[in-house]
Amino acid sequence: MAVAAAPASATGAERDVEASINDLLGRMTIEEKVGQLNQLSGYGYNPAMTGQVKAGAVGSILNETDPAVVNALQRDAVENSRLGIPLIFARDVIHGFKTIFPIPLGQAATWDPSIVEEGARIAADEASSVGIRWTFSPMVDIARDARWGRIAEGFGEDPVLAGTLGAAMVRGYQTDDLSRPNTMAACMKHFAGYGASESGKDYNTTWIPEELLRDVYLPPFKLGADAGAATFMCSFNDINGVPSSGNRKLVRDILRGEWGYDGVMVSDWGSINQMIPHGYSADLRHSAQQAANAGVDIDMESYAYISHLKELVESGEVSEQDLDTMVANVLRLKYRLGLFDNPYVDEATARRFYAPASLAAAQKAVEQSAILLKNTGTLPINSKVKKIAVVGPMADAQHDQAGTWSFDLEKERCVTPLTSLREKYGAANVLYAQGLRHSRDKATDGFAEAVKAARKADVALFFAGEEAVLSGEAHCRTDITLPGAQAALLKALKATGTPVVLVIQAGRPLALSNVEADADAIVFCFHGGTMAGPGLTRLLAGEENFSGRCPVSFPRVSGQTPIYYNHKNTGRPAEGITLIDDIEIEAGQTSTGCTSYFMDAGDGPLYPFGYGMSYTTFSYTPPTLSAPEIAADGTLTVKCTVTNTGTVAGREVAQLYIRDHVASLIRPVRELRRFEKVELQPGESRELTFTLTGADLAYHIDGARTAVEPGEFSVWVAPDAQSGEAARFEIKK
Ligand code: NOJ
Repeated sequence: MAVAAAPASATGAERDVEASINDLLGRMTIEEKVGQLNQLSGYGYNPAMTGQVKAGAVGSILNETDPAVVNALQRDAVENSRLGIPLIFARDVIHGFKTIFPIPLGQAATWDPSIVEEGARIAADEASSVGIRWTFSPMVDIARDARWGRIAEGFGEDPVLAGTLGAAMVRGYQTDDLSRPNTMAACMKHFAGYGASESGKDYNTTWIPEELLRDVYLPPFKLGADAGAATFMCSFNDINGVPSSGNRKLVRDILRGEWGYDGVMVSDWGSINQMIPHGYSADLRHSAQQAANAGVDIDMESYAYISHLKELVESGEVSEQDLDTMVANVLRLKYRLGLFDNPYVDEATARRFYAPASLAAAQKAVEQSAILLKNTGTLPINSKVKKIAVVGPMADAQHDQAGTWSFDLEKERCVTPLTSLREKYGAANVLYAQGLRHSRDKATDGFAEAVKAARKADVALFFAGEEAVLSGEAHCRTDITLPGAQAALLKALKATGTPVVLVIQAGRPLALSNVEADADAIVFCFHGGTMAGPGLTRLLAGEENFSGRCPVSFPRVSGQTPIYYNHKNTGRPAEGITLIDDIEIEAGQTSTGCTSYFMDAGDGPLYPFGYGMSYTTFSYTPPTLSAPEIAADGTLTVKCTVTNTGTVAGREVAQLYIRDHVASLIRPVRELRRFEKVELQPGESRELTFTLTGADLAYHIDGARTAVEPGEFSVWVAPDAQSGEAARFEIKK
């Protein structure tokens, strides 16, 4: 059966592909069609797997990384199966294959699409050299709750930032020609709303009104689809009671229908099967029917399609037309990847890892991703410093600086801060005392030696944080402070009187109000990957300036989560905050002022979204507007001049926010719409120009319906989500 004619806009090559797909479909048995939709995890060349490949019962394989095995299995598919349809080999290459870049949340802190794109390009080049042509990345789930371990894998809390960087990652993996053998198909995941998992507990339920879904959670996916992402993956969660793997509205209506997406939708691992414990499917057969009818093309490791789809098609519970559309999507991906022409990996050039330029790019990513949160003048390490104490569980932790989802890590390739500092300052000038064996260590027996080192030194660098295993899938925490006895060790170091720099590597923004006062400077680096050590050393030494900016809000205490800058104002926004210790004994019920804050934490984050210091300072002129009022379909030009007012060169991330003051559905206090990173020499100014259109001022007012409502708006161009001067304009009636 022919699936569909190629659209009128299709190129000649696309028409040929559609014709080839239709030709193949016409020759396939139902079993062979279902086989294309079956994705299995495989390690090694074993009889069970090869038998299935030769029978045409497998369409793609994840997790095989040996190029010889990849080729052997591919030979079974291409030369020893009836129709010779090639396999796709997939892997979670999330922030690098061998050359590990900062975790995605760290890459988000660069606010620099070109860095993200380059990292993805390098990852694709390395991974494709062993035959991997499909990565399950980028993750663009908006995460507002740092208890959720998977916040590490995404680009933070803002849809514009996450979508822009997600699209850059897609371009890096795929280039403009996916059929090149050194590309990988990208996968926008997890569709959708996974980051809204209730209480930050992984896999948990979500309840997301459609307007919020469309304003906040879906836009990054749309940007990825527009950038040409070849595949999507469903999420594990249910949204409003319907698991994503069986969610017709999400997949068929929105992704396929509204967005016209013709790529592949793969389930998450076992997520079709998991609709049974969700309470949505009665059994595996039922879940296969629901997933297929929702538009999920590939079953990753649920064995639901391979066990039941044939029978479901024969009984008419899944239409043959739908089956053919699913298979066509998979075949189209194989054509797009060029696998029909070029199925094998070149074993002679396999294992292209750690090119010097790749390591340099990874180091640059660290340098632009680390965030200077506090500095009372201790940094950069100045020339009077002769002895440096290096303390802490993350100072020499090769495995842990790589972070979560580093499946293919060779940890001995990770250059730690201790190694780099010794190289830079001379081993004899670096006094190393670990203090704690790992980040969760509660034993204080190492403190004395660490304190001794700090006493002898001119500055103490305390490398703290979270081990890699404390974030990522299924690794959620309720208490997001520094684990173990790290806060106590910091206090002991501070008591020596030696200035202390707290350098944190972690998988999430940590709640730092309990340690902030004990550090003279704080550097926050989301796990930095292979080159974390050299990158951090250059920053600490002042050879490179800090330009990382918070891609998420940093709470003061864990109990403030979820916390995000684009929140609603409430009818009683925080003012006149009275903290718990200032409340009088037997004070009256209304004594704290009855506004929206916590008695024991006040209001707002410790460090806001967009924030980050550097070794220089920047000034912003108030924004000037092209007009005081515009029509709903008009455009507005916003200009602002940014000046480097300090004495060293630096990079600044100018952020344009808007606020719609009065709306039929109340709008957030600020929403990011544009950002631009500029590099300025001391004294240099740059005028930035941003153009806003009605689409930037619209929001979802009634399900899928958008509106730009007349009335007053504010616009800021600012260094973070809490500062800057606003200009006002109106949308005309
Ligand atoms: C489960 C994860 O949720 C997903 O992100 C990943 O790509 C798959 N497993 C495959 O490993």
